[in-house]
Amino acid sequence: MEIASAEKISSLGGPSMWIEWGNLARQNKACNLGSGFPNFSLHPDLKEELHTAAENPVTCWYPRAQAHPRLAEELVATYSPLFQREILPTETIVTTGAYQGIHWTFEAFVQAGDEVIVFDPLFDAYIADSIITGAKYVSVPLMLESNSWVLDKELFANSFNSRTKMIVLNTPHNPTGKVFKRDEIELIAKLSKEYNCLVLADEVYDRFVFGGYNHIRIATLPGMWERTITLCSAGKMFGVTGWRLGWAIGAANLIEKLFRVCICDTFGTSTLMQEAIAGMLQRQRMCSPPKESYFIWVEKIFAENYSKLKKAFIDANMPAVHTQGGFFLIVDCSKRKFDFQDSSEYKSSDDHLDKKIARGIVNEFKLALLPLSLFYSPESKVRPTSYLRVCFAKSSETIDQAVEIIKTFH
Ligand SMILES: Cc1ncc(COP(=O)(O)O)c(C=O)c1O
Repeated sequence: MEIASAEKISSLGGPSMWIEWGNLARQNKACNLGSGFPNFSLHPDLKEELHTAAENPVTCWYPRAQAHPRLAEELVATYSPLFQREILPTETIVTTGAYQGIHWTFEAFVQAGDEVIVFDPLFDAYIADSIITGAKYVSVPLMLESNSWVLDKELFANSFNSRTKMIVLNTPHNPTGKVFKRDEIELIAKLSKEYNCLVLADEVYDRFVFGGYNHIRIATLPGMWERTITLCSAGKMFGVTGWRLGWAIGAANLIEKLFRVCICDTFGTSTLMQEAIAGMLQRQRMCSPPKESYFIWVEKIFAENYSKLKKAFIDANMPAVHTQGGFFLIVDCSKRKFDFQDSSEYKSSDDHLDKKIARGIVNEFKLALLPLSLFYSPESKVRPTSYLRVCFAKSSETIDQAVEIIKTFH
C-alpha cells in the first residue's frame, strides 16, 4: 500500500512549472532565455577568491551556523552604508540561496490562520511556502498601465485585516522588472505598521536597477527596521546561482527566529562558498577606481543584452514593456502571427495564448521563453495571457544567438 504524504505536500499540487518548461527547453536543446539565471563563466576575481578560499583549511570545516565569521563581518561592512545604520553581525544570517531565506521566514513567522499578502505576478516560492505553512495568501495584482506595472493602492489597502501577518515585497520584481516607487513603498510601510505585520523584502535583484530608477529598501523607512527581513542572493549578484548562497538582514530579534529554524534545518551552508563570497564582496567595497567593480562590468553587459533583445523583439512585432530593474524583459506576443498558429494542434489547444506561443517558439525555433501567465497565483482574478518573460541576464553569446533566432521568426 502506498505511503501517504503529509497533507501539506498533496496541497502543493502537481510538479512545479519549472520542471515542465525546463524539460521542454532541454528536449529542444533550445537557446534558453526562459530560466532566470546568468549563464556566463565565473568572473576572474571570483575564480581567484575561490582558489584562495580553497587553500584555507577552515573552509573544509562546518561553518558557524549563523554565518561564517568572515562573511558576517563583510555583510556588516557592505550593508551598513546601504541600510544607513550600523548593522551588527547578529543582524545577518546566511542561507542556502534566497530561496531558503524565504522558506525560513515563512517557517519562523507564519502559521495556519495567518494571511500573507503577495503581489501578482510573482516568484512562485511565496505560494508554495504559504501552503506549506498553512497560511492563506491574498493576492493583489500589479496592473500594466502606460508601459509600466503599478500597484492598485485601494485594492492593496483593502486586502488587510486582523489576520494579515506578512507582506511579501519583491523589488526589483520578478517577473515584471518593476522597481517599486517611493509612494508605493511608503504605503506598504504605513499599512504594515498599522496592522502590525512583518515585511519579507525579497531584494535579490537589488544590484540591478536601471537608469532613472532607485532601489528603495523598505527596511530603511522610519519604524520598518523592526519589522522587515531583507533577503539577498549571492547567486543573482555574482552570477553563481549554483553556489546556493544568500543572506537575510534584519533586527536581531527577527534574525534570531530564523536562526532557530536554521539549526533544525541545514545548520549553515558551505563554508568554502561563504569565504569566497566574503572576499568578492570585500573586493567590490574596496574597488578603486569603483568603475572597475564587478557590478559595473555586469551592468554594462546586461544593458547591452537588454537593448539588443528589445530591438530584436520590436522588429519581430513583439513590443516590449519597459524594464526598470532585475533580469527580465516582458514582451507582448499578441500582435505577432506565427505560421505554427495555423496548425491543427495549435488550434485544438485550449491553453492560454502565451503558453501556446511559448510552446510553438521553443518547438519550432528552439528558443525558450516563459509564458507570463505561469507566474500568477492560482486564485488571481487578473491573468494577462499575451506576454512572455525573457531573461536578459545571460552571456553576450547566448543573447546574440537568441537575436539571430528572433530574426528568423515567420
Ligand atoms: C524574486 C526571487 N527571489 C528569490 C529567488 C531565489 O534566489 P536564490 O537563487 O538565491 O535562491 C529568485 C530566483 O529566481 C527570485 O527570482
